[in-house]
Amino acid sequence: MTRNPAIHPFLEACNRRPVPRVPLWIMRQAGRYMPQYQEVRGKVDFLTLCRTPELATRVTLLPIELLKVDAAILFSDILIPLEPMGVHVAFAEGEGPVLDPAVRSEKDIRALRSFDPREGVPFVMEAVRMIRRELDGKVPLIGFSGAPFTLATYMAEGGTSKSFHHIKTLLFARPDLADLLLDKLVTVVADYLNAQIAAGAQAVQIFDTWGGILAGPDYERFALSPVKKVIARLERKGVPVIYYLNNGAYLASFMEHLDCDVLGIDWRQDIRLTRRTLGKKKAIQGNMDPVALFADPGTVQAKACEVLRAAGPEPGYIFNLGHGILPQTPMENAVALVEAVHSFRY
Ligand code: CP3
Repeated sequence: MTRNPAIHPFLEACNRRPVPRVPLWIMRQAGRYMPQYQEVRGKVDFLTLCRTPELATRVTLLPIELLKVDAAILFSDILIPLEPMGVHVAFAEGEGPVLDPAVRSEKDIRALRSFDPREGVPFVMEAVRMIRRELDGKVPLIGFSGAPFTLATYMAEGGTSKSFHHIKTLLFARPDLADLLLDKLVTVVADYLNAQIAAGAQAVQIFDTWGGILAGPDYERFALSPVKKVIARLERKGVPVIYYLNNGAYLASFMEHLDCDVLGIDWRQDIRLTRRTLGKKKAIQGNMDPVALFADPGTVQAKACEVLRAAGPEPGYIFNLGHGILPQTPMENAVALVEAVHSFRY
């Protein structure tokens, strides 16, 4: 039986319509802090989990059942679409991703392929369809992709990095090659998000985890401009587009002309100010410090109320953390957080 097309506070807030209470979801809400996730991971490795729609579906639903968050996010990883481009992705236990070959030379970049997501990553679209069926209208499903610059960073570095030596050298020494790489990623990311929307994603988030390592003008040229090209190519059909930028407080002035519906911000950015300025045209999502979840449940709730008060009662606000929930977070604190946000009234 299908439910009536319910009004979802999350989608209402994305569209800056009034809601009876502030909706929330948590970046990385299905993750290692959750004993029930660990149980599944004890049996299969992370990439197998991402590539098996039944398992990805089960894990996607965990935070809906256990925490009662207001949106589901597809369980996958931003690095998944790099494999069909020709880059092998592995996760060394506890060490983060390893990409091979690292993409640094003209030859490396020219060898990258674009692909039809329904053929290159069919399990992602299958998971989207399966999750929608299981959710049966209970909460909306968010699809996602990495932003072109963030993906290029992982590709050039071959994994995570502290100095971002390789990607920055490429931008500074060979901007022509950087443009070639980023253009290829624009195509891949736009096709990938369009395929998720076609399969049933009801919102999409573009994760720009590393945009904030660049000086303003470089950010505009190599990170923001590709994101604008991606958004221009989306077949949105009313699906809200969320742009999450980590460490982007100093880049706020660039956001005004970005055609996203929702802007995700981290804890370093003043949410009161952001709501008064950018919030006039976009919904704002964020921005509690994930480390605040390491305190006792009472402090977690007080911190959440601080963020809610700073964000204020005007329509167009979605509660979230400023970055992903950390693996060391006590589960009871995640529960306390959701209760605090759900019981808060202006
Ligand atoms: O939000 C969700 O619950 C959906 C699933 C999701 C994951 N990764 C699962 C994951 C999403 C949306 C991501 C996005 C992602 N992946 C980003 C952007 C967001 C951010 O955090 O900045 C980035 C940069 C990645 C790349 C990535 N994936 C890294 C660097 C790592 C290793 C570091 C770490 O935290 O372990 C991952 C692994 C990963 N992705 C895990 C999960 C649950 C842990 C894997 C495991 O179970 O061992």
